[in-house]
Amino acid sequence: MLDAVATTAFIHAFEPGTDSARKPLLLLHGTGGNEHDLLPLGRMVAPGAALLSPRGQVLEGTMPRFFRRLAEGVFDAADLRRRTHELADFIGDARRRYDLAAPIAVGFSNGANIAASLLLLRPEVLAGAALLRAMSPFKEPPQADLAGKRVLMLSGAQDPIIPATDAARLAATLTGNGATVEHRILPAGHGLSQADIGLLSAWLDQA
Ligand code: MLT
Repeated sequence: MLDAVATTAFIHAFEPGTDSARKPLLLLHGTGGNEHDLLPLGRMVAPGAALLSPRGQVLEGTMPRFFRRLAEGVFDAADLRRRTHELADFIGDARRRYDLAAPIAVGFSNGANIAASLLLLRPEVLAGAALLRAMSPFKEPPQADLAGKRVLMLSGAQDPIIPATDAARLAATLTGNGATVEHRILPAGHGLSQADIGLLSAWLDQA
């Protein structure tokens, strides 16, 4: 059953879980995506999990995003912080509305970047995060207590958008703040590959 509504601050889709052993997933789309994009991925990698999928509230032309950027890979730091707190507040509202445990974020590209920002600014709202094609959202990352948080980072060795050094810097930041980070670099570009699906699925099975 799909519930696509705008009764909280974010337009979002919600699918209730059918397997209580599964943690809910917070699905965060990439630039130009919407709340429907990652639902098939969520169903595939975590069958029976509740799926909460908001649409980013920033428009770049007609393309939804989760925060403003000034150029590719150059982020509006104040907007990023503001939008991160708004998304964290939405997650709290949605948890109360749908009676959900803290979700695991599964974010792709811009969605992975705001998931990383959630971890660093509002770690209490997530149980963990899978960051698919993420880069470091902050030039000077805040300190956070990430003890007990599992993070999977999947990067593409041929990704033309995310510099390898930047993904490595994010992995180091998260590890330095106490998260248990598994960072895999796949023979892939910016798009997801079959290997991403397999690794993500196996990692979520351990959650
Ligand atoms: C971002 O803007 O968050 C990253 O550059 C990835 C993207 O193109 O969305």
